[in-house]
Amino acid sequence: MRVSTFALGALMVSAVPAFAQDDLVTRGEYLARAGDCTACHTATGGAYMAGGYPFEMPMGTIISSNITPSDQYGIGKWTEAEFADALRKGVRPDGSRLYPAMPYPSYANITDEDIAALYAYFMQIDPVDAAPKVETALDFPFNIPGAMAAWDLLFAGGDPYTADPELTDQQNRGAYLVKGLAHCSTCHTPRNQLMATDNTRFLAGTAVEGWYAPNLTSDDISGLGQWSDAEIASYLQNGHAMGKAQAGGPMADAVQNSLQYLTDQDIAAITAYLRTVPAIRDQGQDTPAWSVTKATPADWTQIEPGMVASDQPGYIAADMTDGAQLYNVACAACHGMTGQGSEDGTFPPLTGNSAVGSANHNNLVMAIVQGIHRTGADGTAVMPAFGEGQSMIHGALDNSQIAAVSNYVTASFGKGDAGLTGDDVSDIMAADSAPWLIEHAKVLFWAGVALAGIVVIALIAWALRRKRTV
Ligand code: HEC
Ligand code: HEC
Ligand code: HEC
Repeated sequence: MRVSTFALGALMVSAVPAFAQDDLVTRGEYLARAGDCTACHTATGGAYMAGGYPFEMPMGTIISSNITPSDQYGIGKWTEAEFADALRKGVRPDGSRLYPAMPYPSYANITDEDIAALYAYFMQIDPVDAAPKVETALDFPFNIPGAMAAWDLLFAGGDPYTADPELTDQQNRGAYLVKGLAHCSTCHTPRNQLMATDNTRFLAGTAVEGWYAPNLTSDDISGLGQWSDAEIASYLQNGHAMGKAQAGGPMADAVQNSLQYLTDQDIAAITAYLRTVPAIRDQGQDTPAWSVTKATPADWTQIEPGMVASDQPGYIAADMTDGAQLYNVACAACHGMTGQGSEDGTFPPLTGNSAVGSANHNNLVMAIVQGIHRTGADGTAVMPAFGEGQSMIHGALDNSQIAAVSNYVTASFGKGDAGLTGDDVSDIMAADSAPWLIEHAKVLFWAGVALAGIVVIALIAWALRRKRTV
């Protein structure tokens, strides 16, 4: 008896480190999901975490790195401290700087314990011994080595998150996730002239890749003030909240890769923290985007005959320009003639829908252009894409048709005719809203050089004149 207890004891001692390591890896995997590393580090169709995902930025194209433990092409030789510096400060072991397409300004909040878990997880995933197929190509002057050092000095490299004594433990946990790993702010906070998040308007909403990441502040009208806890939880885990909104585009990816895996406690913590984010009201908004319930179905006596669903179901004539007709053939089968959606909510109502009632029409237009393909905790949602070149199963809509159907949808189920034109739709899709400073950086750089040159010449001239007069 005594011997066997001893043997058991010995076994446990030797097994403890292995168990602890497994726990660390499991926790690291959870954190990697919370941080959504795969969204950026796994290219479409590419190997897990092997990089190669292109980011079209106003300063050029940035390619995500291979972060598998490959010695030559990945981070296989990195120490934990080097890994921590890349994540939190944006600095590689050789001292070169990452571009903030990698959200290190947010990840600066990650605690040492969580860094250790992430490191343990990444060191044991399958190494991929290949460089990403494409290389980063930045425009001048952003490709000057060290160009990012000044930016980092201004905007990055804070200390890991420390609990705010004003907040409860639950709110602090939420703040840690929202500001850090889950980097909600990267998409939902507007950016300043230098492309850094403008934290005076924290989570107040901004455009991202043609979509619009709405206001998440506690404001009753513009933000989440009137969403229930259950609605926020459903949106984050499933990607939709009945009577409020559905997640498409980049938010659908965040739900699919990341948020659906978070525990109920972490989702509740995020919600509890969002309640504390200072309210910011969008100018001129007097009712919430989701609050419109009027539905004005088309008056079919006013519409030219032909091209109604009963004549040619699913058929979209290239020259069809009437919004009501387009809605009838392209949308009504799922969303209903009066925009009421399907009874079980699989096809959501367009009345009382934040994408339709918002003063910003990006999400309505982008949902029509790209469709929705998303798997959340409660299943998969699919809406076909109607944009040209995106649609595989049926006729595409050209930009003026997308404008016409959007105008019909906002007029009938939203706050009134959006008045969009085909050109507005192209602008939304092009999504090139670089801050003025970034767009003009090249000119400004040379203007700066020229100015510096003029100053130097003036100084020399002044010195020479002085010398002569002395
Ligand atoms: C929003 C996109 C995005 C997310 C999310 C993201 N990364 Fe990155 N990451 C990038 C890009 C882009 C680069 C390359 C930046 C450059 O070349 O300057 C990068 C670079 C890195 C590097 C430096 C590797 C090297 O040698 O270049 C590491 C390490 C890294 N990421 C780890 C992570 C981890 C771990 C996570 C999740 C916790 C993560 N990243 C999440 C976009 C992202
Ligand atoms: C990669 C960019 C991105 C990230 C990261 C992101 N979001 Fe979003 N979010 C969006 C976009 C875009 C939308 C609009 C989606 C749509 O309407 O189809 C959105 C919509 C939402 C909505 C619905 C709001 C409304 O009024 O309709 C909520 C709530 C939300 N996000 C919460 C969060 C939270 C909390 C986080 C962090 C845990 C987060 N998001 C991270 C881009 C992002
Ligand atoms: C085959 C069915 C189907 C068709 C056809 C369809 N939709 Fe959808 N639509 C969906 C589904 C499914 C969702 C997402 C539901 C969810 O997230 O739970 C959706 C979501 C939406 C949203 C919310 C998007 C967001 O990101 O917030 C809008 C707006 C919308 N549809 C408008 C339209 C319009 C306009 C048309 C016609 C041009 C159309 N839909 C055609 C099924 C469809």
